Amino acid sequence: MRILHFSDPHFDLSLRTLPFKKWFGKRAIGALNLLAGRGRFFDEAEEKIAALNNFKNEQGIDLVLCTGDYTALGLDAELRNAAEQIAPLTDAPHGFITVPGNHDIYAKDVIKNHYFFDNFGAAMQTDMPEYCTDGIWPFVRLIGDKIAVIAVNSAKPNPVPWRSDGHIPGVQLQALNRILDDARLSGRFIFVMTHYASRLENGQPDTRLHGLHNADDFLAICKKISTGALLCGHVHRCYRTPLDGLKADLYCAGSATKEHREGFWLFDIEGSACKISQGFFDVEEYAYFVKEMNA
Ligand SMILES: [Fe+2]
Ligand SMILES: [Fe+2]
Repeated sequence: MRILHFSDPHFDLSLRTLPFKKWFGKRAIGALNLLAGRGRFFDEAEEKIAALNNFKNEQGIDLVLCTGDYTALGLDAELRNAAEQIAPLTDAPHGFITVPGNHDIYAKDVIKNHYFFDNFGAAMQTDMPEYCTDGIWPFVRLIGDKIAVIAVNSAKPNPVPWRSDGHIPGVQLQALNRILDDARLSGRFIFVMTHYASRLENGQPDTRLHGLHNADDFLAICKKISTGALLCGHVHRCYRTPLDGLKADLYCAGSATKEHREGFWLFDIEGSACKISQGFFDVEEYAYFVKEMNA
């Protein structure tokens, strides 16, 4: 089973197409950030995601996972465009699974209007509905008889523009705790995916204004995982870091499309063995380092 994990494509619709009446409050600041040059780093996001789809087809990827941040401002028009760009990646034999990033639920109207779910709901289904304690969260997918994917939502609207911090609601953590005891998961390689990084590359927590508030609570529960990986994005660097007291490491996919920082992770799981490779972008195509790592 070959699994591709990428994150943070940040498709950037032209600001001219965004409805002007939405440009108030935090979105005005977000739009100004883009105008000031932030968006420039993602100018080729569409071309790069098309190249990532070529990689998926050529490398026989069985399952694709994305840890969110498809957009800049979380507008319905942006999310619809992102879903169109991502569509080719969703036809892997075992499908496509995702969570939203903070940019995808940038303001409260995205949650109120269900924009993210309307566009990405097919990638957020569950095989264990009894554990959905917070809307659709957490959800679980059982892939074949050797892999499970658990998704918790750590993204939330932030009321002030200088904050981009996350939080996993307590009810989701309690459900995650119970899911990890479920006999249907025993013997499986377990992926737990969420947008926010519970640790930085150096093993330290992210800052209060950019990080996951209850990362320690999340990691304490994940100590139950005997074989698996924690997947995230949000921090735009591709890295792997071991976690104190956990058998599973943290894999941040960074951004698949950010200029000069493109990356992703590739997991090859056969029986009880897992080989992991780090991906990169080279001129116009994606590739991965031949040096493999063990889980
Ligand atoms: Fe991001
Ligand atoms: Fe983010």
